[in-house]
Amino acid sequence: IRCSRASRASRFISKGCKLVGCGSALPNLQVSNDDLAKVIDTSDEWIYSRSGIRNRRILSGNESLTGLAVEAANKALKMAEVEADDVDLLLFCSSTPEDLFGGAPMVQKLLGCKGNLPAFDIRAACSGFLLGLVTASRYIRGGGFKNVLVIGADCISRYLDWMDRRSSVLFGDGAGAILLQACDSEEDGVFGFDLHTDGNGNRHVNASIKQNETDVGSVMGFSTTRPSISDIKMNGSEVFRFAVKAAPRTIQASLAKADLKISDMDWLLIHQANQRIIDRVAEELEFPKDKVISNLENYGNTSAASIPLALDEAVRSGRVKKGETIMTAGFGAGLTWASAIVRW
Ligand code: ACO
Repeated sequence: IRCSRASRASRFISKGCKLVGCGSALPNLQVSNDDLAKVIDTSDEWIYSRSGIRNRRILSGNESLTGLAVEAANKALKMAEVEADDVDLLLFCSSTPEDLFGGAPMVQKLLGCKGNLPAFDIRAACSGFLLGLVTASRYIRGGGFKNVLVIGADCISRYLDWMDRRSSVLFGDGAGAILLQACDSEEDGVFGFDLHTDGNGNRHVNASIKQNETDVGSVMGFSTTRPSISDIKMNGSEVFRFAVKAAPRTIQASLAKADLKISDMDWLLIHQANQRIIDRVAEELEFPKDKVISNLENYGNTSAASIPLALDEAVRSGRVKKGETIMTAGFGAGLTWASAIVRW
C-alpha cells in the first residue's frame, strides 16, 4: 500500500509520553491471616514470616472486577483532568476477566469512553500490567494515540482452591490504573523496557483449562467438549527461585537499554508477591531499603493490579513525587517476566 509522505508523517509522529494520572480500587471485604487460620491449616505467624502478608481484600457480594477496574480508571482520569471521552486507547490487563471474549469492552462502556476506540485485553499474569504499559507507550510514540488508559485488575480469589494453603494464603483482589499521555517533547515516561516469556516454566504455576466431553457429542455425532478451569497450582519454591533471579536481571537489562545506572533511580517497585522476594531483589541490586515501595502486607498478591495499586498509594501519600524515576518489574505465571524504567 502506498501512502503520501504527508499522511505517513501525520500518522506516525514519534512523540514522548508521560504518566499523568493513577488510581486504584479494592473490594470492601478484608480477610486477615487469622481469619484464614480458622478454616485452613495455617497461622498468621507462618504466612507473615514466609511472605510478609497480613491481610488481603476479596471480591464478594455484588462487587465485580469490572466495577473495580472502572473505579480505578475513573480516579486516574480525575487526577489527570482528562474526560473518559478523550481516551483513545484502553488496555485491560487481566488474567481473570468477567467475559470470555475480554473484559475491556465492558470497562470501556461503563467508563463512558467513545464507542469506537480500540479497547482490548492483555493477559500475562502478574507481568500483565507492565506489558500493557510498554504497549501503551509504543502506541503513543508510533501510532499517534494521545490518552491511553492502562488498567491492571485481577480477582485471583475466584480461581483458588482455598484449602490449598500453599497458594490460597498469598493472593488478594484489586485494580489499579494509569493514564499515559502523549507530549510534544522527547520526554518519555517509559524509557527502557525488557519483556520475556518462557512456556517451559508453565508447570511451576498454572490454572489450566481442561476440556470435558459432553453428552451432546453422541447426539451430534461428533465429540464436543466444555472447558473448566482448574484451580491455581503453584510450586512456590520454584517460582521464588525464578523471581529472585529474573527480576534483578530484567531490571539491569532495562537500565542498560536506557543507558542509566541504579544510582539514577529514585524508587524500586516490583510485583508484590512476597516481601522476601522484594527484599532479595533490592539486595541484589544494592538498592537502599527505604527506597523500596511495598504494600503487600495489606493486600497480598493482586497479580496484574499490584504495581499500579502500589504506585497509586505511593503517589497519593506524597512518597513518590513528580519527576521521580522508578524501576519496576513483574514476574509470574507463563512464566513471564518484564521490567520498565518509568518516570512519574
Ligand atoms: N501455612 C502453614 N504451613 C504451610 C503453608 C501455610 N500457608 N504453606 C506451606 N506450608 C508448609 C509446607 O507444607 C511445607 O511443609 P513441609 O516441609 O512439611 O512439606 C513448609 O510449610 C515449607 O513450605 P515451602 O513451600 O518450602 O515454603 P517457602 O518458604 O518456599 O514459602 C511461599 C512458600 C510463600 C509460597 C514462597 O515459596 C513464595 O512466595 N513463592 C513465590 C510465589 C509467587 O511469587 N508467585 C507469583 C506468581 S503467581 C501468578 O503469577 C498468578
